[in-house]
Amino acid sequence: MAHVKIFDTTLRDGEQSPGVNLNRLEKLEIAKQLERFGVDVMEAGFPASSQGDFESVREIANTVKNVSVTGLARAVKSDIDTAWEALKGGTDPRLHVFLATSPIHMTYKLKKTPEEVIDTAVEMVRYAKTKFSKVEWSAEDASRSDLEFLARIIEKVIDAGATVINLPDTVGYTTPYEYGQMFQYIKQNVPNIEKADLSCHCHDDLGMAVANSIAAVENGATQVEGTINGIGERAGNAALEELAVALKIRQDFYSIETGLVLNEIKRTSDLVSKLTGMHVPRNKAVVGQNAFAHESGIHQDGVLKHAQTYEIITPEMVGVKSNSLVMGKHSGKHAFKDKLKQLGYELSDEKVMEAFTEFKKLTDSKKEVTDDDLFTILTEIQTQTADIKKYVLNGFQVEYANGPQPVATVQLMKPDETEIEGSARGQGAVEALFNTLDTLIEEDVHLTDFNLTSIGRGRDALAQSNVKVTVNGTEFSGRGSSQDVLEAAVKAFLNGVNRGFYYHAPVKAQGASY
Ligand code: KIV
Ligand code: ZN
Repeated sequence: MAHVKIFDTTLRDGEQSPGVNLNRLEKLEIAKQLERFGVDVMEAGFPASSQGDFESVREIANTVKNVSVTGLARAVKSDIDTAWEALKGGTDPRLHVFLATSPIHMTYKLKKTPEEVIDTAVEMVRYAKTKFSKVEWSAEDASRSDLEFLARIIEKVIDAGATVINLPDTVGYTTPYEYGQMFQYIKQNVPNIEKADLSCHCHDDLGMAVANSIAAVENGATQVEGTINGIGERAGNAALEELAVALKIRQDFYSIETGLVLNEIKRTSDLVSKLTGMHVPRNKAVVGQNAFAHESGIHQDGVLKHAQTYEIITPEMVGVKSNSLVMGKHSGKHAFKDKLKQLGYELSDEKVMEAFTEFKKLTDSKKEVTDDDLFTILTEIQTQTADIKKYVLNGFQVEYANGPQPVATVQLMKPDETEIEGSARGQGAVEALFNTLDTLIEEDVHLTDFNLTSIGRGRDALAQSNVKVTVNGTEFSGRGSSQDVLEAAVKAFLNGVNRGFYYHAPVKAQGASY
């Protein structure tokens, strides 16, 4: 059985999805979950891109022990130096440095001749090797590059010390056959290719990212790059959970194994979806809500008689559990702590107390507290930044009387502990609340997306709201949950605004919070 390494780039390429901006603690939570999922390499960010990214990459590198942590760098010395500073404390640091090789990128973006591109790539890999023992070099836009040129530059960067050669389909243009042929060509025409791992990195613009990745593996790739839920630039990257399950279910055909822990898939997918605000479509392969739902009578009948008639993946394989009833009003702290352990959470005593208080509050109004409810409470507690929150919700009211439109009143607390209050009308309760918030918030804020979903079933289910807001011209996502849909919406709006506030705050403040 051949082994293929898994390189996760959820925190770098995935975080480049429009409107996604994770704070330090959110990135750390995802990194810890990726470690449980068993990825071989995780790309924690692009350290030279911002102070916040630098801090996050450093914290992840210093925390995660069983995964090699990497960071992206352009082919310039200062990026490589910054990446080294961020990664050097890790147990197995590596650098990911890239330079474009396609005629269109070299001519119009880099304004360099092919020979100059070779010289820069070789020089930067050599420089990187003075710091890192492991260096991945990516030929950006490889799938639209000249094959003979690609073979020439790869041979030289391997001689310069590259330990992994990545051939991205940067714009999601290639097809499985073509991409496979490219890997075959490189294997056959680069004399020193055996000295490096060969990696694939596919984007999903034509919906072929997973198929292209598998074609690369069939033709010699020893590493696959991708993201959880396939999030990423434009249409996203290859979805790692799909790839993992495809290789497992069709092991009879591919004879390839990965080190991934498949029953961590659901939890990893849920966490990434919740923290990024990128919803998983119901019909998405492997992790969509409908992936295990059988609707037609014929299918239901078949599954009842023999599950494999219509079910090739079992829910258990990917960690989908029936939404078990956990605890209620009378559950004590010990039972609660046991449950946290069962769910795999490691919380400080202070956070356990906070979680227990939230859990108790919920049991006052909700009879059945499920694993999904707990997951929501715990994720919020684990990822809350304790520092600057510009606006804190103190209270709100909505009145439907006295006029054709409801009127909302909101009380907010500012950092200097002064309370501000305002009122406004709207076509409905949500609009009235958002209009009121607009009048209270100093920043220039525009709502660009608003979403409301329920966590679990039942009329007393928790509501989760996700919004996208532009704050002083930059888009941010925000999320909030509550049993009350209006409160969830207000919390999400404020969460987006507060993230925008961190982002626009001076770099020193960002370092501490973003
Ligand atoms: O898609 C791409 O080419 C990339 C590179 C930076 C590796 O993400
Ligand atoms: Zn990419």
